[in-house]
Amino acid sequence: MPHRDNPAGEITLVTASAAETRRLGERCGRRLRTPLVICLIGDLGSGKTVFVQGLARGLDVSADYAVTSPSFTLINEYPGRLRLFHIDLYRLDAQADLDDLGLAEILHGEGVAAVEWAEKLTDGALAERLEIRFEFGDDDRRRLHMVAYGQASLILLKALRS
Ligand SMILES: Nc1ncnc2c1ncn2[C@@H]1O[C@H](COP(=O)(O)OP(=O)(O)OP(=O)(O)O)[C@@H](O)[C@H]1O
Ligand SMILES: [Mg+2]
Repeated sequence: MPHRDNPAGEITLVTASAAETRRLGERCGRRLRTPLVICLIGDLGSGKTVFVQGLARGLDVSADYAVTSPSFTLINEYPGRLRLFHIDLYRLDAQADLDDLGLAEILHGEGVAAVEWAEKLTDGALAERLEIRFEFGDDDRRRLHMVAYGQASLILLKALRS
């Protein structure tokens, strides 16, 4: 499994606008052929949902669906080439709620799971995942630090590099 010190397993990209972040999400979605968990970590307004909007397009989720933060429902589900689960754990306060959500099945299922505030997932729950950390830069810039854990995300990062 690649580690932080393995350059093949990580990449940092800077986007200058919401449209660029959306496009990056779309590029990722286009490449996906197998299930993947994408952990999205970053402050309020850093661009996690914008990224998932692009991801949905890349997975051929119909544009009829408006992808918005599932803050109250915690999970939104969209049909696409692969089923997309958009999960937002911001309002999650108890670990027990995680179990109630049936999250384990989703995270180990056949779809793509994009998880906002993924740091609320318990450690060790996920060996394989793509982790994306969002940081604010100057103006509308966002720095997306992507780290691959496992083969599927490693292949995705290699594709993004080319
Ligand atoms: N480079 C950029 N990438 C992404 N969003 C950007 C960028 N520049 C400006 N924005 C704006 O920042 C906001 C990002 O909002 P978004 O809902 O994606 O954040 P979030 O990380 O999901 O926040 P929350 O934790 O509240 O769910 C949007 O209003 C978007 O238009
Ligand atoms: Mg959001």
